[in-house]
Amino acid sequence: MQVPSFDLERWQSLHEHQVEINLSESGVKPLRLEELTDAIGDVLGPTELGYAQTNGTAALRDRIATLYPGTGLAEILVTNGSSEANFICAWHLIEPGDEIVVVQPNYMQVAGTARSFGATVHPVWLEEGPDGWQLDLDAVAETVSPRTRLIAFSNPNNPTGSQIDAANLDRLCDIAATHSSWILADEVYRGAELSGPLTETAWGRYDRTLVVSGLSKAYGLPGLRVGWVVGPTDTVAELWGCRDYTSIVSGTLSDRLAQLALDQREQLRARARRILLDNQARVARWVESTDGYHQTPPRAGGVTLIGYAGSVGSAELAETLLIEHGVLIVPGSQFDLEGYLRVGIGGTAAPLAEGLARLALAFSQ
Ligand SMILES: Cc1ncc(COP(=O)(O)O)c(C=O)c1O
Repeated sequence: MQVPSFDLERWQSLHEHQVEINLSESGVKPLRLEELTDAIGDVLGPTELGYAQTNGTAALRDRIATLYPGTGLAEILVTNGSSEANFICAWHLIEPGDEIVVVQPNYMQVAGTARSFGATVHPVWLEEGPDGWQLDLDAVAETVSPRTRLIAFSNPNNPTGSQIDAANLDRLCDIAATHSSWILADEVYRGAELSGPLTETAWGRYDRTLVVSGLSKAYGLPGLRVGWVVGPTDTVAELWGCRDYTSIVSGTLSDRLAQLALDQREQLRARARRILLDNQARVARWVESTDGYHQTPPRAGGVTLIGYAGSVGSAELAETLLIEHGVLIVPGSQFDLEGYLRVGIGGTAAPLAEGLARLALAFSQ
């Protein structure tokens, strides 16, 4: 099996703990444990550190179900982060020779995993225009074939921060239905909307739908490693079987803390919105006052793409920025998208301001 290198993840892990200013993060600033509960001892002290129920405790799945009204506990499988959820969905669904359609740019996990399982990946690219990053549904319809096993997308989208609305989700489901393909909707940024209501979920529109999500981004809890899949009961039972082979179960403490987090979901979303709005305003002012850059404001999620003029490769720019100026951003090349840099807007204001100032200085000469 050939596993393509996951450049986006490796670039961040190599540098994020050494660099002076880290603007590569995609989620909202992580919470400290004491921010989640002021009774750490009372909550964690009595927790027995055995294996939790391997598909997630009923108490946790019950809370996850509230995010998808009408959903039963047997339709939910708790995983170690949404990345494990994506992995087991791909592992379960994809056979060598399958085709998958991926809306890009996107987090590169599903495409890379599918390739390693012997599938051909057909990207359909979002297009940047005056009304934001748009999905051409006709292009999706033209790209699917009888061999299309699944249509994958992230909504809200990493890295553009765009959203797919209810009407377009329905159309994507109709397109998937033409060849009984699956929908794999990664909704890990749902809950990090800069304005407006929660991003529409793909759940509940079409029987062959798997929704992946978790607490790493909007809820600021990547260290818990809590994600989940929502899907039809029989498929979730099969995914649970896959999960028996990957990591068995999530951490017992994480399961308990995830329950606490979901009890505070409204407050955590409000926290995310405050941080994101403040930082986005900062980025917008910077783009406005700095020659050679443009930005389509994100609607949701912890990142934004900043487009730049000129033909220098984004990897080269990112390397210079890192080595000479101590700032870590993600080059568009890691999304197969040249001419853009991805900047996190979920973190602390001061490093963002300083990082942007250094970016302007670095490339003004
Ligand atoms: C769209 C998307 N899905 C999944 C993940 C992985 O997240 P987790 O920490 O929940 O495994 C990421 C991380 O950046 C992401 O952007």
